[in-house]
Amino acid sequence: MSKLWGGRFTKETNKLVEVFTASINFDQKLAFEDIEGSLAHVQMLSECNIIPKNDAETIKNGLLTIKQKIENGEVQFSVENEDIHMNIEKLLIDEIGPVGGKLHTGRSRNDQVATDMHLYLRNQTLNIIELVKGVQTALLQQAEEHVHTILPGYTHLQRAQPVSFAHHLLAYFWMFERDKDRLQDSLKRINWSPLGSGALAGTTFPINRSKTAELLGFDKVYPNSMDAVSDRDFIVEFLSISSLLMTHISRLSEELVIWSSQEFQFIELDDSFCTGSSIMPQKKNPDVPELLRAKTGRVYGNLVGLLTVLKGLPLAYNKDMQEDKEGMFDTVETLDGSLRLLAPMIETMTVNTDKMYAAVAQDYSNATDIADYLVTKGLPFRQAHEVIGKTVLYAIEQKKFLLALTMDEYKQFHELFEEDIYDVLQPKNVVEARNSEGGTSSEQVKLQIIVAKQSLQ
Ligand code: ARG
Repeated sequence: MSKLWGGRFTKETNKLVEVFTASINFDQKLAFEDIEGSLAHVQMLSECNIIPKNDAETIKNGLLTIKQKIENGEVQFSVENEDIHMNIEKLLIDEIGPVGGKLHTGRSRNDQVATDMHLYLRNQTLNIIELVKGVQTALLQQAEEHVHTILPGYTHLQRAQPVSFAHHLLAYFWMFERDKDRLQDSLKRINWSPLGSGALAGTTFPINRSKTAELLGFDKVYPNSMDAVSDRDFIVEFLSISSLLMTHISRLSEELVIWSSQEFQFIELDDSFCTGSSIMPQKKNPDVPELLRAKTGRVYGNLVGLLTVLKGLPLAYNKDMQEDKEGMFDTVETLDGSLRLLAPMIETMTVNTDKMYAAVAQDYSNATDIADYLVTKGLPFRQAHEVIGKTVLYAIEQKKFLLALTMDEYKQFHELFEEDIYDVLQPKNVVEARNSEGGTSSEQVKLQIIVAKQSLQ
């Protein structure tokens, strides 16, 4: 089999080299983007009178036939043709004859591959934005049902202050909102056209880069041909945003694992999202959130991998850059799968409001409120903190919670204590008292839900 670039060579490529350098096994994912780019390129070549109109028409029809054949699964890509670009060119020439060889006029695989990747990542970014919205919708749904559900809020995984479960879930809503925002913003940079940059220096043909950019829906053309074929920063940015997104997914997953444990029992994941143990019949394992947590590792790995590939490369294209693809595909697939599972898993989980409330009723997480109580009565906060420290210590020694201390016991610590302290300490009141902007009171949480809904639209 002769190579498209075989002219300069006198020997066959070593078989191992062929396999080692080929990218077709993974870059065939870019087949449709490659054809899309070629269709725009050939139309431009014809409009600029670089190739005859009827040749352009033949090429266009040939490309559409190949597209159809790929869709029908009738195409066999080959390692001999190295990558998706040469595979398709070869298929085209087989389909329509030597005129197919005119397609690559004024173009190089270097601007071609960069174009394919921009098109691919633009589609995938839009897809992921939609999937993130799905997760946000699920969080919002649960939040709306649980504005008045109270559970312990933690710092250092120690019970800190009771919070509304809706408030806790909405914290993730906003993390995902910013992830979505970052993805959206990155589209500005993804949407530049490298096409027409040639191998690195441009081309001798009178091409029209704005035309291909317009046909492909790009906002602008890269102003520098060397930059256009050399950088992969748009992919690094995607991998970096994805890493952060996975971090958020992972933290939420960790909470789902903890909350569904026997020790917490705050939630129960739907049976359809759990698996059993082959040896311990009582077990229901949260495999899905565990794997979501773990898959974060490969996404970080893909980011560091590409940064490392790029860091020492001189301009312009280097074969090293072929290594930009698998990590990108893997990240796209990991995110796609993760987000698709996360949304229904949140939607279908059962929230054990009793267990959550029982946990709040049996802790000292209302201690801050006694301090605030004394402050309201005129005591400086520092002094109040000291008083409460002693009160809590005493209560712990007596094995009593703060609501169980008698008025006499309270008076022992400060004469400002009065009967109304028992109201203040009710978990519900503790939550409702935090009515500052962005706080956990039901009033604030309801306002938050309104804003969240608006940003989802
Ligand atoms: N398969 C190559 C890649 O993915 C396409 C570009 C090849 N260019 C070249 N000059 N060898 O990077």
